[in-house]
Amino acid sequence: MGRSHTFLAKSIHWVFVILYAYGIFKQLDDLEQLEDSGLLVFEVVFASVFLLIVLIRYFYMSRFETFLGATEPVPLIHKYLAKTVHRLMYFCLVLLPLTGLAIAALFRRGIVDGPLMDGAIGVHGFAADLSYLLIAVHVLAAVYSRLKNEGIWTSMVPLWKEDATKKSGLAEKITVFEGNVLQKVEALLPTKKQ
Ligand code: HEM
Ligand code: HEM
Repeated sequence: MGRSHTFLAKSIHWVFVILYAYGIFKQLDDLEQLEDSGLLVFEVVFASVFLLIVLIRYFYMSRFETFLGATEPVPLIHKYLAKTVHRLMYFCLVLLPLTGLAIAALFRRGIVDGPLMDGAIGVHGFAADLSYLLIAVHVLAAVYSRLKNEGIWTSMVPLWKEDATKKSGLAEKITVFEGNVLQKVEALLPTKKQ
């Protein structure tokens, strides 16, 4: 059996999915909505709590190895890709509330247009769009790993548990296919001179 993420790690991961979905769902349509001062205060409190949770999570999770649940060696390239996607997700999740807070601060100072406000809104929208893309890649990678039955899924996801003792034909086929692709890619890379 591979190791599992701690109860705290799983709780933060899944509570955060709800918080993120709520943040995206309640998104503002335009700047004029901030004229409602109750909404402005709510947005600022929400963004501050969101940012705090992302930072606490980052520092808590950085002590754990990527793919700690793997029951068999995972190709190094997968680890690099996963680490890059995780870091980029954190980058977006910090940028979203920070630019939201910047929008609020500018608005409070009466700056409602011009390069500063346009820039803040532009980066805010970019962080949101990039986060959708990264999360889609992350979820697809998790499902792919689940199909390979390698233990990573079960270390974080409470449903559709893997059974490491029963490797399906599909899991075997994917693993062999992936091994062949990686070998071909390695053959194309320049080798170090002896
Ligand atoms: C808002 C959506 C999501 C975000 C922002 C997110 C973010 C992350 C991050 C940053 C990690 C690395 C560990 C950490 O620092 O917490 C992680 C791990 C993981 N996530 Fe997600 N996740 C999301 C949704 C999902 C969903 C829907 C699934 C499965 C269907 C999933 C499956 C996993 C798995 C299996 C791991 C463990 C990877 C490992 O052990 O290295 N995630 N997630
Ligand atoms: C973590 C907190 C936040 C999340 C997840 C979030 C998410 C979003 C998203 C997804 C959009 C749509 C972006 C687009 O498609 O271009 C948006 C737009 C917007 N957000 Fe946020 N937001 C957050 C915090 C804030 C805060 C604190 C403010 C200001 C008080 C704010 C002000 C705005 C405004 C004014 C728009 C509309 C921009 C436009 O006119 O296109 N957001 N937000």
